[in-house]
Amino acid sequence: MSDQPKTDKIVNENNNLNPSEEMTGEASTAPETSYVRFDSGLTGAPPRVIVMANQKGGVGKTTTAINLGTALAAVGERVLVLDLDPQGNASTGLGIDHSQRTRSTYHVLTGDFPVEASIVPTAIPGLHIVPSSFDLSGAELELVDAPRRSFRLKDALAAFLTRGPICGTDDKPISYILIDCPPSLNLLTLNAMTAADAVLVPLQCEFFALEGLSQLMRTVNLVKSSLNRRLEIQGVVLTMFDARNNLSAQVAQDVREHFGDKVYRTVIPRNVRVSEAPSHGKPALVYDHRCAGSQAYIKLASEIIRRENALRAA
Ligand SMILES: Nc1ncnc2c1ncn2[C@@H]1O[C@H](COP(=O)(O)OP(=O)(O)O)[C@@H](O)[C@H]1O
Ligand SMILES: [Mg+2]
Repeated sequence: MSDQPKTDKIVNENNNLNPSEEMTGEASTAPETSYVRFDSGLTGAPPRVIVMANQKGGVGKTTTAINLGTALAAVGERVLVLDLDPQGNASTGLGIDHSQRTRSTYHVLTGDFPVEASIVPTAIPGLHIVPSSFDLSGAELELVDAPRRSFRLKDALAAFLTRGPICGTDDKPISYILIDCPPSLNLLTLNAMTAADAVLVPLQCEFFALEGLSQLMRTVNLVKSSLNRRLEIQGVVLTMFDARNNLSAQVAQDVREHFGDKVYRTVIPRNVRVSEAPSHGKPALVYDHRCAGSQAYIKLASEIIRRENALRAA
C-alpha cells in the first residue's frame, strides 16, 4: 500500500481530463441522471451512490466503506458495497473468501457479468458486496481503448437499477451503494466518480492530511464539469483521531476551517479494535460493537442518514 499520491494519464499534467473524457466526447451520449426506472414494479427513491475517495493510501477509505456499510445495514438500510480496489481489502474485511470472488467488479467493468450476477452476500443481514479480484489490477490497461471507458461502472449500475436494485432474495431495494476506491486517481476511481452521486472523503488526522486534497478536489470538479454533473462532496470524515495528540486536534481544526459544514461532526477515533477486525474477516461493528470506533461509525451513519433525509426533502 503506497502513501504516495498518484495521478495518471486520465488527469493530465495540466490537471485537465484527457480529451476522450470530455463531455463533448463520450459523455455527450451518457445517460442522464434520472436513469432509474423500476420496471420490476418497485417504488421509492433510487439508491444513493457514495464513493470513498482519497488518493492517499491508509487514510480509512476501506475501513469506512466496511463499517459505514455495516452501520447503515444495522439500522435497516439495504447496502451494496462495490470493491473497486484491486487489493480487495473491503472484500477481505467483510469475510469474502477468494473462492467467492470468481465474479467481481472486474467482470462488471468489462461487461462479462451484470452487477446482479456478481453480488455476494456478507454475514451481515442487508449488506452485500460485489468483491474485487486480482484481474482488477489489469482492468485499467484493458479498458484504455474500450468504448465509454469512464462510464463502464455507471452503465452497468444503470442497467442493474433499471432491472430493480435487489440483492438476492431480499424484498427491499438497495438504499445505499458504497464504492471503495484504490489509493489513486486512476481509471477505476474515475469510473466510481462518474457513477456516483457524491464523494465521501476520509481524512486521516495527521500532519500531511491536507496535502493532495486540492488535487482530489480538482479531480472532483473536473469530473463534475466533464463526466458527471450531479457529483458533489458528500462530506469529509476525520479518521484515526487521537485525543491525546495535539496534532490530531490541530489537523481537525484546520480541516474544519477549510471545509466548514462539509466536515462531519462525528470523528472516528484511532482504535485498536478497528484495526484488528479485518484480520478476523469482520467489520469492527461485529468484532466489537461496543468499542469507540464502532460507536463512532454508528454515529456517522446516523449523521449521513440525517443529511440524506434533509437533501431528499429539499
Ligand atoms: N479508526 C481506526 N483506528 C485504528 N486503525 C484504523 C482506523 N481506521 C483504519 N485503521 C487501520 O489503518 C489502516 C489503513 O486503513 P484503510 O481503511 O485500509 O485505509 P485506505 O483504504 O484508505 O487505504 C488499516 O490497517 C486499518 O485497519
Ligand atoms: Mg483501501
